[in-house]
Amino acid sequence: SAPRYVLGIETSCDDTAAAVVSESGEVLGESILSSVDLQAKFGGVVPNLARQAHEDAIDGVVAEALHAAQLEPPDLSGVAVTIGPGLSLCLKVGVLKAREVAHLGGCPLIPVHHMEAHALVARALAAASSYDDDPSSSAQPAPAFPFLALLVSGGHNLLVLVEGLGVYKILGTTLDDAVGEAYDKVARLLGLDLSRGGGPAVEELALSGDAEAHAFPVPLKNSRDKAKNCDFSFAGLKTSVRTAVERTIGIGGGGGGGLEVGEEAARAKVKADIAASFQRVAVEHLCLRTRTAVLWARETHPGLGEIVVAGGVASNRTLRRELEALALDLDLKLVCPPPRYCTDNGVMVAWTGMERLRAGVGVGECPETPRPEEG
Ligand code: KG4
Ligand code: ZN
Repeated sequence: SAPRYVLGIETSCDDTAAAVVSESGEVLGESILSSVDLQAKFGGVVPNLARQAHEDAIDGVVAEALHAAQLEPPDLSGVAVTIGPGLSLCLKVGVLKAREVAHLGGCPLIPVHHMEAHALVARALAAASSYDDDPSSSAQPAPAFPFLALLVSGGHNLLVLVEGLGVYKILGTTLDDAVGEAYDKVARLLGLDLSRGGGPAVEELALSGDAEAHAFPVPLKNSRDKAKNCDFSFAGLKTSVRTAVERTIGIGGGGGGGLEVGEEAARAKVKADIAASFQRVAVEHLCLRTRTAVLWARETHPGLGEIVVAGGVASNRTLRRELEALALDLDLKLVCPPPRYCTDNGVMVAWTGMERLRAGVGVGECPETPRPEEG
Protein backbone atom coordinates (compact mmCIF):
# COMPACT_ATOMS: atom_id res chain seq x y z
CA SER A 1 0.00 0.00 0.00
CA ALA A 2 1.12 3.59 -0.58
CA PRO A 3 2.97 5.18 2.31
CA ARG A 4 0.81 7.64 4.23
CA TYR A 5 2.62 9.04 7.24
CA VAL A 6 6.32 9.20 8.05
CA LEU A 7 7.84 10.31 11.34
CA GLY A 8 11.24 12.02 11.06
CA ILE A 9 13.77 12.43 13.87
CA GLU A 10 16.76 14.79 13.83
CA THR A 11 19.45 14.91 16.55
CA SER A 12 22.67 15.54 14.64
CA CYS A 13 23.65 18.82 16.27
CA ASP A 14 22.02 21.04 18.88
CA ASP A 15 18.34 20.69 17.95
CA THR A 16 16.17 17.78 19.02
CA ALA A 17 13.46 17.71 16.39
CA ALA A 18 10.66 15.46 15.19
CA ALA A 19 7.85 15.80 12.68
CA VAL A 20 5.20 13.80 10.90
CA VAL A 21 4.50 14.46 7.21
CA SER A 22 1.88 13.06 4.87
CA GLU A 23 2.57 11.67 1.40
CA SER A 24 1.72 15.06 -0.11
CA GLY A 25 4.23 16.85 2.10
CA GLU A 26 1.79 18.24 4.57
CA VAL A 27 3.23 18.78 8.03
CA LEU A 28 0.82 17.04 10.40
CA GLY A 29 2.76 17.58 13.59
CA GLU A 30 6.15 18.89 14.58
CA SER A 31 8.18 19.64 17.64
CA ILE A 32 11.64 21.05 18.22
CA LEU A 33 13.78 21.81 21.24
CA SER A 34 17.04 23.66 20.84
CA SER A 35 19.98 23.56 23.20
CA VAL A 36 21.78 26.36 21.34
CA ASP A 37 21.25 28.59 24.37
CA LEU A 38 22.97 26.09 26.64
CA GLN A 39 25.76 25.54 24.12
CA ALA A 40 26.36 29.29 23.81
CA LYS A 41 27.30 29.41 27.50
CA PHE A 42 30.16 27.06 26.74
CA GLY A 43 31.20 28.83 23.55
CA GLY A 44 30.21 26.03 21.21
CA VAL A 45 28.74 22.57 21.01
CA VAL A 46 30.08 20.33 23.78
CA PRO A 47 29.36 16.73 22.70
CA ASN A 48 28.45 15.33 26.12
CA LEU A 49 26.21 18.27 26.98
CA ALA A 50 24.54 18.03 23.60
CA ARG A 51 23.96 14.31 24.05
CA GLN A 52 22.46 14.87 27.48
CA ALA A 53 20.18 17.59 26.11
CA HIS A 54 18.97 15.25 23.33
CA GLU A 55 18.38 12.44 25.84
CA ASP A 56 16.37 14.73 28.06
CA ALA A 57 14.32 16.04 25.14
CA ILE A 58 13.80 13.16 22.73
CA ASP A 59 10.83 11.34 24.29
CA GLY A 60 8.84 14.54 24.77
CA VAL A 61 9.65 15.90 21.31
CA VAL A 62 8.60 12.69 19.52
CA ALA A 63 5.47 12.34 21.64
CA GLU A 64 4.50 15.94 20.89
CA ALA A 65 4.93 15.52 17.12
CA LEU A 66 2.83 12.34 17.13
CA HIS A 67 0.23 13.91 19.39
CA ALA A 68 -0.11 16.97 17.17
CA ALA A 69 -0.60 14.67 14.19
CA GLN A 70 -3.13 12.63 16.22
CA LEU A 71 -1.27 9.48 15.30
CA GLU A 72 0.15 6.47 17.14
CA PRO A 73 3.21 4.46 16.07
CA PRO A 74 1.07 1.76 14.35
CA ASP A 75 -0.34 4.47 12.05
CA LEU A 76 3.11 5.22 10.64
CA SER A 77 4.40 3.92 7.30
CA GLY A 78 8.00 4.49 8.34
CA VAL A 79 10.35 6.20 10.77
CA ALA A 80 13.12 8.28 9.22
CA VAL A 81 16.15 9.31 11.22
CA THR A 82 19.30 11.32 10.54
CA ILE A 83 22.30 9.00 10.66
CA GLY A 84 24.96 11.55 9.71
CA PRO A 85 26.89 13.67 9.33
CA GLY A 86 26.91 14.97 12.89
CA LEU A 87 28.10 14.23 16.39
CA SER A 88 27.99 10.48 16.88
CA LEU A 89 26.91 10.70 20.53
CA CYS A 90 23.97 12.84 19.42
CA LEU A 91 23.02 10.84 16.34
CA LYS A 92 22.77 7.70 18.50
CA VAL A 93 20.05 9.25 20.64
CA GLY A 94 17.89 9.78 17.56
CA VAL A 95 18.63 6.38 16.06
CA LEU A 96 17.75 4.55 19.28
CA LYS A 97 14.47 6.43 19.57
CA ALA A 98 13.66 5.82 15.90
CA ARG A 99 14.26 2.10 16.36
CA GLU A 100 11.97 2.05 19.37
CA VAL A 101 9.12 3.79 17.53
CA ALA A 102 9.56 1.71 14.37
CA HIS A 103 9.46 -1.42 16.51
CA LEU A 104 6.29 -0.25 18.27
CA GLY A 105 4.72 0.63 14.95
CA GLY A 106 5.93 -2.42 13.06
CA CYS A 107 7.20 -0.22 10.25
CA PRO A 108 10.57 0.24 8.52
CA LEU A 109 13.40 2.49 9.62
CA ILE A 110 14.66 4.89 6.97
CA PRO A 111 18.20 6.21 7.44
CA VAL A 112 18.58 9.77 6.18
CA HIS A 113 21.64 11.85 5.31
CA HIS A 114 21.40 15.25 7.00
CA MET A 115 22.46 17.27 3.96
CA GLU A 116 20.16 15.32 1.65
CA ALA A 117 17.32 16.26 3.99
CA HIS A 118 18.29 19.96 3.78
CA ALA A 119 18.32 19.68 -0.02
CA LEU A 120 14.99 17.88 -0.36
CA VAL A 121 12.79 19.71 2.14
CA ALA A 122 11.81 22.28 -0.48
CA ARG A 123 10.05 19.50 -2.40
CA ALA A 124 7.62 19.16 0.50
CA LEU A 125 6.36 22.64 -0.43
CA ALA A 126 3.84 20.92 -2.66
CA ALA A 127 1.57 20.88 0.36
CA ALA A 128 1.11 24.63 0.43
CA SER A 129 -1.15 24.42 3.44
CA SER A 130 1.85 23.54 5.59
CA TYR A 131 3.36 26.88 4.75
CA ASP A 132 0.32 29.12 4.82
CA ASP A 133 1.62 31.03 7.79
CA ASP A 134 4.62 32.12 5.73
CA PRO A 135 3.35 34.26 2.84
CA SER A 136 6.81 34.51 1.27
CA SER A 137 6.79 30.81 0.48
CA SER A 138 3.26 30.17 -0.72
CA ALA A 139 4.01 30.70 -4.41
CA GLN A 140 7.04 28.44 -4.48
CA PRO A 141 7.02 25.37 -6.70
CA ALA A 142 8.37 21.99 -5.65
CA PRO A 143 11.73 21.74 -7.41
CA ALA A 144 11.99 18.89 -9.92
CA PHE A 145 15.11 16.81 -10.53
CA PRO A 146 17.67 17.82 -11.60
CA PHE A 147 18.23 20.95 -9.52
CA LEU A 148 21.18 22.65 -7.93
CA ALA A 149 21.35 22.86 -4.14
CA LEU A 150 23.42 25.39 -2.23
CA LEU A 151 23.70 24.06 1.30
CA VAL A 152 24.97 26.58 3.79
CA SER A 153 25.02 25.60 7.44
CA GLY A 154 27.29 25.66 10.46
CA GLY A 155 29.03 22.44 9.54
CA HIS A 156 28.62 22.26 5.77
CA ASN A 157 29.06 24.37 2.73
CA LEU A 158 28.19 22.51 -0.44
CA LEU A 159 27.09 23.02 -4.00
CA VAL A 160 25.34 19.84 -5.05
CA LEU A 161 23.78 18.84 -8.34
CA VAL A 162 20.77 16.78 -7.29
CA GLU A 163 20.07 14.52 -10.26
CA GLY A 164 17.59 12.28 -8.48
CA LEU A 165 16.80 10.71 -5.14
CA GLY A 166 20.16 9.60 -3.76
CA VAL A 167 21.95 10.70 -6.95
CA TYR A 168 24.15 13.64 -6.11
CA LYS A 169 27.19 15.26 -7.64
CA ILE A 170 29.19 17.47 -5.31
CA LEU A 171 30.39 20.41 -7.40
CA GLY A 172 31.96 22.34 -4.56
CA THR A 173 32.72 22.14 -0.88
CA THR A 174 34.60 24.20 1.66
CA LEU A 175 38.37 23.95 1.91
CA ASP A 176 38.27 25.04 5.56
CA ASP A 177 35.35 26.57 7.48
CA ALA A 178 31.69 26.47 6.53
CA VAL A 179 29.99 29.84 6.10
CA GLY A 180 27.83 29.42 9.22
CA GLU A 181 30.95 28.64 11.20
CA ALA A 182 32.52 31.81 9.84
CA TYR A 183 29.47 33.80 10.95
CA ASP A 184 29.71 32.22 14.40
CA LYS A 185 33.42 33.03 14.68
CA VAL A 186 32.89 36.62 13.57
CA ALA A 187 30.13 36.96 16.15
CA ARG A 188 32.58 35.79 18.80
CA LEU A 189 35.32 38.14 17.57
CA LEU A 190 32.87 41.01 17.82
CA GLY A 191 31.75 39.94 21.29
CA LEU A 192 28.09 39.54 20.25
CA ASP A 193 25.33 37.72 22.10
CA LEU A 194 25.44 34.12 20.83
CA SER A 195 22.24 32.89 22.44
CA ARG A 196 20.32 32.80 19.15
CA GLY A 197 23.37 31.62 17.20
CA GLY A 198 26.14 33.80 15.79
CA GLY A 199 24.64 34.20 12.31
CA PRO A 200 21.50 36.08 13.27
CA ALA A 201 23.51 38.35 15.60
CA VAL A 202 25.95 39.32 12.83
CA GLU A 203 23.11 39.80 10.34
CA GLU A 204 21.25 42.10 12.69
CA LEU A 205 24.32 44.16 13.53
CA ALA A 206 25.22 44.43 9.83
CA LEU A 207 21.95 46.27 9.19
CA SER A 208 23.37 49.40 10.80
CA GLY A 209 26.85 49.10 9.28
CA ASP A 210 28.56 50.31 6.10
CA ALA A 211 29.25 47.23 3.98
CA GLU A 212 31.96 49.10 2.05
CA ALA A 213 33.84 50.23 5.16
CA HIS A 214 36.38 47.41 4.92
CA ALA A 215 37.72 46.08 1.63
CA PHE A 216 38.19 42.49 2.80
CA PRO A 217 39.41 40.38 -0.13
CA VAL A 218 36.85 38.04 -1.69
CA PRO A 219 38.12 34.48 -1.07
CA LEU A 220 39.65 32.56 -3.97
CA LYS A 221 38.73 35.33 -6.32
CA ASN A 222 41.81 34.83 -8.46
CA SER A 223 40.81 31.26 -9.21
CA ARG A 224 37.38 32.42 -10.32
CA ASP A 225 38.14 32.05 -14.01
CA LYS A 226 39.16 28.45 -13.53
CA ALA A 227 35.79 27.58 -14.93
CA LYS A 228 34.97 24.62 -12.71
CA ASN A 229 36.18 25.70 -9.33
CA CYS A 230 33.17 25.87 -7.05
CA ASP A 231 34.99 25.38 -3.77
CA PHE A 232 34.65 27.73 -0.82
CA SER A 233 37.06 29.09 1.73
CA PHE A 234 36.31 31.28 4.73
CA ALA A 235 39.48 31.02 6.81
CA GLY A 236 41.16 33.99 5.11
CA LEU A 237 38.10 36.19 5.46
CA LYS A 238 37.91 35.32 9.15
CA THR A 239 41.55 36.36 9.54
CA SER A 240 40.81 39.66 7.78
CA VAL A 241 38.00 40.26 10.24
CA ARG A 242 40.19 39.41 13.22
CA THR A 243 42.84 41.84 12.01
CA ALA A 244 40.24 44.58 11.57
CA VAL A 245 38.84 43.94 15.05
CA GLU A 246 42.29 44.09 16.63
CA ARG A 247 43.16 47.26 14.76
CA THR A 248 39.96 49.13 15.61
CA ILE A 249 38.49 47.89 18.87
CA GLY A 250 41.10 45.60 20.39
CA ILE A 251 41.33 41.87 21.04
CA GLY A 252 38.04 40.18 21.87
CA GLY A 253 35.96 43.06 20.54
CA GLY A 254 35.24 44.12 24.10
CA GLY A 255 37.03 47.45 24.22
CA GLY A 256 40.48 49.06 24.41
CA GLY A 257 42.37 49.13 21.13
CA GLY A 258 41.96 52.24 19.02
CA LEU A 259 38.97 53.63 20.91
CA GLU A 260 38.76 55.75 24.05
CA VAL A 261 36.86 54.26 26.98
CA GLY A 262 33.28 55.51 26.92
CA GLU A 263 32.99 55.80 23.17
CA GLU A 264 30.17 53.28 23.16
CA ALA A 265 28.36 54.58 20.10
CA ALA A 266 31.57 54.79 18.10
CA ARG A 267 32.47 51.25 19.05
CA ALA A 268 29.03 49.98 18.05
CA LYS A 269 29.42 51.67 14.67
CA VAL A 270 32.88 50.18 14.14
CA LYS A 271 31.53 46.72 14.94
CA ALA A 272 28.56 47.18 12.65
CA ASP A 273 30.87 48.23 9.80
CA ILE A 274 32.98 45.11 10.26
CA ALA A 275 29.90 42.89 10.41
CA ALA A 276 28.42 44.45 7.27
CA SER A 277 31.70 44.26 5.34
CA PHE A 278 32.21 40.64 6.35
CA GLN A 279 28.69 39.78 5.26
CA ARG A 280 29.04 41.55 1.91
CA VAL A 281 32.19 39.57 1.08
CA ALA A 282 30.87 36.24 2.40
CA VAL A 283 27.70 36.61 0.34
CA GLU A 284 29.63 37.69 -2.76
CA HIS A 285 31.84 34.61 -2.41
CA LEU A 286 28.81 32.30 -2.11
CA CYS A 287 27.15 33.93 -5.12
CA LEU A 288 30.24 33.81 -7.36
CA ARG A 289 30.71 30.10 -6.69
CA THR A 290 27.02 29.44 -7.22
CA ARG A 291 27.19 31.19 -10.59
CA THR A 292 30.12 29.01 -11.60
CA ALA A 293 28.25 25.88 -10.48
CA VAL A 294 25.16 26.77 -12.51
CA LEU A 295 27.20 27.28 -15.68
CA TRP A 296 29.07 24.04 -15.06
CA ALA A 297 25.91 22.02 -14.34
CA ARG A 298 24.27 23.37 -17.49
CA GLU A 299 26.99 21.78 -19.61
CA THR A 300 25.44 18.40 -18.84
CA HIS A 301 21.93 19.53 -17.86
CA PRO A 302 21.10 22.45 -20.16
CA GLY A 303 17.54 22.55 -18.83
CA LEU A 304 18.60 23.14 -15.25
CA GLY A 305 16.05 25.66 -14.04
CA GLU A 306 16.01 25.64 -10.27
CA ILE A 307 18.30 26.30 -7.38
CA VAL A 308 17.41 25.40 -3.82
CA VAL A 309 19.17 27.13 -0.97
CA ALA A 310 19.01 25.50 2.43
CA GLY A 311 20.84 25.17 5.73
CA GLY A 312 20.86 27.66 8.59
CA VAL A 313 22.53 30.49 6.65
CA ALA A 314 19.81 30.32 3.99
CA SER A 315 17.62 32.37 6.30
CA ASN A 316 20.03 35.29 5.88
CA ARG A 317 18.23 38.17 4.11
CA THR A 318 21.27 39.57 2.35
CA LEU A 319 22.15 36.16 0.93
CA ARG A 320 18.56 35.62 -0.22
CA ARG A 321 18.45 39.03 -1.92
CA GLU A 322 21.73 38.51 -3.77
CA LEU A 323 20.75 34.99 -4.82
CA GLU A 324 17.46 36.36 -6.15
CA ALA A 325 19.44 38.75 -8.33
CA LEU A 326 21.72 35.94 -9.50
CA ALA A 327 18.75 33.72 -10.28
CA LEU A 328 17.10 36.47 -12.30
CA ASP A 329 20.32 36.98 -14.24
CA LEU A 330 20.75 33.26 -14.99
CA ASP A 331 17.06 32.64 -15.68
CA LEU A 332 16.73 30.30 -12.71
CA LYS A 333 14.00 29.83 -10.18
CA LEU A 334 15.30 30.32 -6.64
CA VAL A 335 13.61 28.16 -4.04
CA CYS A 336 14.14 29.08 -0.40
CA PRO A 337 12.28 27.13 2.24
CA PRO A 338 10.85 29.29 5.04
CA PRO A 339 13.56 30.06 7.62
CA ARG A 340 12.33 27.52 10.14
CA TYR A 341 12.73 24.78 7.52
CA CYS A 342 16.17 26.11 6.53
CA THR A 343 17.64 25.43 9.95
CA ASP A 344 17.68 21.91 11.35
CA ASN A 345 14.18 20.50 11.70
CA GLY A 346 12.24 17.25 11.77
CA VAL A 347 10.20 17.93 8.64
CA MET A 348 13.20 17.67 6.32
CA VAL A 349 14.03 14.23 7.72
CA ALA A 350 10.44 13.00 7.63
CA TRP A 351 10.03 14.25 4.05
CA THR A 352 13.26 12.63 2.84
CA GLY A 353 12.03 9.41 4.46
CA MET A 354 8.74 9.76 2.62
CA GLU A 355 10.52 10.22 -0.72
CA ARG A 356 12.73 7.19 -0.07
CA LEU A 357 9.81 5.06 1.04
CA ARG A 358 7.79 5.98 -2.05
CA ALA A 359 10.71 5.18 -4.32
CA GLY A 360 11.73 2.09 -2.34
CA VAL A 361 15.26 3.47 -2.04
CA GLY A 362 17.45 2.76 0.99
CA VAL A 363 14.69 1.70 3.35
CA GLY A 364 15.43 -0.42 6.42
CA GLU A 365 19.20 -0.33 6.03
CA CYS A 366 19.79 1.55 9.24
CA PRO A 367 23.29 0.73 10.44
CA GLU A 368 23.87 -0.44 14.00
CA THR A 369 25.90 2.68 14.66
CA PRO A 370 25.48 6.08 13.06
CA ARG A 371 27.95 7.35 10.50
CA PRO A 372 29.34 10.51 11.97
CA GLU A 373 32.67 10.45 10.17
CA GLU A 374 31.51 12.59 7.28
CA GLY A 375 31.04 15.63 9.46
O1 KG4 B 1 21.57 24.19 9.38
P1 KG4 B 1 21.85 24.68 10.75
O2 KG4 B 1 20.69 25.01 11.65
O3 KG4 B 1 22.71 23.65 11.56
C1 KG4 B 1 23.80 22.99 11.00
O4 KG4 B 1 24.91 23.55 11.09
O5 KG4 B 1 23.58 21.89 10.43
O6 KG4 B 1 22.80 25.93 10.61
C2 KG4 B 1 23.28 26.64 11.72
C3 KG4 B 1 24.21 27.73 11.25
C4 KG4 B 1 24.93 28.47 12.39
O7 KG4 B 1 26.28 28.58 12.06
C5 KG4 B 1 24.24 29.83 12.40
O8 KG4 B 1 25.07 30.86 12.87
C6 KG4 B 1 23.90 30.01 10.94
O9 KG4 B 1 23.51 28.72 10.51
N1 KG4 B 1 22.82 30.97 10.74
C7 KG4 B 1 22.94 32.14 10.09
C8 KG4 B 1 21.68 32.78 10.16
N2 KG4 B 1 20.82 31.96 10.86
C9 KG4 B 1 21.54 30.86 11.20
N3 KG4 B 1 23.98 32.69 9.45
C10 KG4 B 1 23.79 33.90 8.88
N4 KG4 B 1 22.62 34.58 8.91
C11 KG4 B 1 21.55 34.07 9.54
N5 KG4 B 1 20.38 34.74 9.58
ZN1 ZN C 1 21.77 21.33 9.27
